Amino acid sequence: MTIDLSEIGMLKGQQYETIITTKDAGGNPNAAPIGVICRGKDNVMCRIFKGSRTLDNIISQKEFTVNISQDPLLFTWSLLDNLQDEDFSKDNSIKDIDCYFKCKVTSLKEAVKQSDPIKKKSEAIVIKADVVELIINNPVKVYNRSFGHVLESLVYMSRIDIADDNQRKYYLDSLNEAFRVIRKVGSKKDKEAMDNIKNKLNEKGFEI
Ligand SMILES: Cc1cc2nc3c(=O)[nH]c(=O)nc-3n(C[C@H](O)[C@H](O)[C@H](O)COP(=O)(O)O)c2cc1C
Repeated sequence: MTIDLSEIGMLKGQQYETIITTKDAGGNPNAAPIGVICRGKDNVMCRIFKGSRTLDNIISQKEFTVNISQDPLLFTWSLLDNLQDEDFSKDNSIKDIDCYFKCKVTSLKEAVKQSDPIKKKSEAIVIKADVVELIINNPVKVYNRSFGHVLESLVYMSRIDIADDNQRKYYLDSLNEAFRVIRKVGSKKDKEAMDNIKNKLNEKGFEI
């Protein structure tokens, strides 16, 4: 069966928020939210900071599972390490997940960035992988962070004229962060929307 990630809304070059599940050499399962970039119909990549269990497991096992969900609690529990062994299926996907795909690693490369928004010097590994199985249990769309940022930016813009100085500074800082995220992970439309917002703010005399 041919695999086509566009079936779940994944488009080449775009990043989506997912929950990656892995196992260590002893078979112990782990889950963590990770951004996954679609490289084509049946391959993906991600960049994972050194020090995480997910990265250690991927390096040792050369495989991982990408779970697709729009459930805020699942993302939260995965980050807070609240998923229990019984929350995983036999094939190491998350139980009752809408959709997941299994990946086999094809390359692992060091990626050191001298200036990263998170910390000055970041050390990570870029992982490329082939998708070997795609399981869709329920119709679902992958989640991209940009649309939320566009909506929040519109809300800030609509309030900026009536805000006091402190609140206005908060809105402008948040707008700058939204621009950064959208430059990194936004679609063409998200970027166009932010250009419109930027132009409007500049017209109003705000430097952004
Ligand atoms: C939505 C979201 C996306 C994330 N994407 C990444 C990512 O792409 N790379 C990464 O190294 N960490 C990412 N993180 C942070 C990891 O989930 C976090 O470091 C986690 O604690 C790793 O857990 P682990 O040690 O169980 O692997 C993300 C977190 C969230 C909430």
